[in-house]
Amino acid sequence: MSDVKPDQSAAQPEGELVSTPAEDVSKLSFSDVAEQGHKPAQFNPDAEPVLEVENLKMYFPVKSSGVVRRTIGHVQAVDGISFQVPSGGSLGLVGESGCGKSTTGRLITRLYTPTGGSMRFGHDQVDLAAMSNRELKPLRRNVQMIFQDPYTSLNPRHTVGSIVGAPLAVHKVMPKNKILGRVQEILEVVGLNPEHYNRYPNEFSGGQRQRIGIARALTLNPKLLVADEPVSALDVSIQAQVINLLQDIQREFDVAFLFIAHDLAIVRHFCPEVAVMYLGKIVEIADRETIYGHAHHPYTQALLSAVPDVKQAAIGGRRERIRLEGDVPSPINPPSGCRFRTRCSMAQEICAKVEPPLLQIGKRHKVACHFPGELGAHPQTPVTAGLLGVDRQGSPEPGQTPTPVDLGPGFAKTWFDVKTQQVVGS
Ligand SMILES: Nc1ncnc2c1ncn2[C@@H]1O[C@H](COP(=O)(O)OP(=O)(O)OP(=O)(O)O)[C@@H](O)[C@H]1O
Ligand code: SF4
Ligand SMILES: [Mg+2]
Repeated sequence: MSDVKPDQSAAQPEGELVSTPAEDVSKLSFSDVAEQGHKPAQFNPDAEPVLEVENLKMYFPVKSSGVVRRTIGHVQAVDGISFQVPSGGSLGLVGESGCGKSTTGRLITRLYTPTGGSMRFGHDQVDLAAMSNRELKPLRRNVQMIFQDPYTSLNPRHTVGSIVGAPLAVHKVMPKNKILGRVQEILEVVGLNPEHYNRYPNEFSGGQRQRIGIARALTLNPKLLVADEPVSALDVSIQAQVINLLQDIQREFDVAFLFIAHDLAIVRHFCPEVAVMYLGKIVEIADRETIYGHAHHPYTQALLSAVPDVKQAAIGGRRERIRLEGDVPSPINPPSGCRFRTRCSMAQEICAKVEPPLLQIGKRHKVACHFPGELGAHPQTPVTAGLLGVDRQGSPEPGQTPTPVDLGPGFAKTWFDVKTQQVVGS
């Protein structure tokens, strides 16, 4: 891969994936643009999970200043989360800044070693959390990451060919003289000119650079891609093109995605299932129809109220805007009980005393709230009290034994019906 002088002609505008002209696209909302490309991604809910994350924790130590630096606390960036990603499916992970999304992605790719929990991967269910770096090396090729910022995530001194080919060289998966051919093949897959392998990242536009990052993540044919806000640094019309490309890749390569985003609009067309995170915990997880149409957690409802919904506006139904008051509390000293209680308009005494478990309340729906319900229809009394063996205020109820709650990563065949407060299901 020889080095050549930069050629500005490589930084062409993009436009090969969405037929709508760029000037029209820029007037549309993201959901319009995304809809013009692909239909929402589908997945088989019964497919064997490619990844099962259980009770995953990452506590970063906080050190005192001075000569002897003692640990004086911990940032509870990720605090006991469980979820699964079905093979070839994609799970969206959404939440405000600082809730622990990137830390989760970095744990799965083992850029960090978790404080606790397990991450069982693939058919053999090997636990990525418990493996040494040496044991992890052959597995790393199966789990790759696409980073948020296409400007800082590519080394400006390396050619595109050496960036995209590096994983092949590191993992020694093919003879050196075959690497260039594979690199060119992948560049073509991601919509770049294969002849541009000897150019530098600064010769490409933001969208094209993100394609280079995607190509690098794809070279080893991974089974799981962790995409950490892969489009948030891009212009809105380019966002839709990159999302479309990722959907094409998902189908062609049968690769599963953990798609990290800070708002619910971006993952809507890409992810058949979505998990909502708040301050290191998952507060709601469900299939797309449930999250966007029947969310039961006040935090999800607040996030949803910020999503422009073209179809709803067209039929005359408008979503009321719920403002999230106050700042996200510090993950060093999170609120007792429910972590969302300091910003929740419905918080009651029990919310400060007892942490609501992530309870399965539907076929593919889990929620962590004592008062789960659709917007405007939250129950007045805590539906979890009987289950947790406490009274309405959250104090232990004498003679009541708490019922064990399944907090595993998957969905059970039976669940807790919030209206009847009975276990139902098939
Ligand atoms: N290496 C680290 N050392 C100490 N604290 C960290 C470290 N990395 C992240 N944190 C803290 O952990 C919390 C979660 O951070 P994380 O980057 O995972 O959030 P995020 O959801 O990805 O946010 P954003 O949307 O801003 O990217 C934050 O409070 C952050 O300050
Ligand atoms: S448990 Fe209480 S504070 Fe937490 S979201 Fe539900 S109502 Fe709000
Ligand atoms: Mg992040």
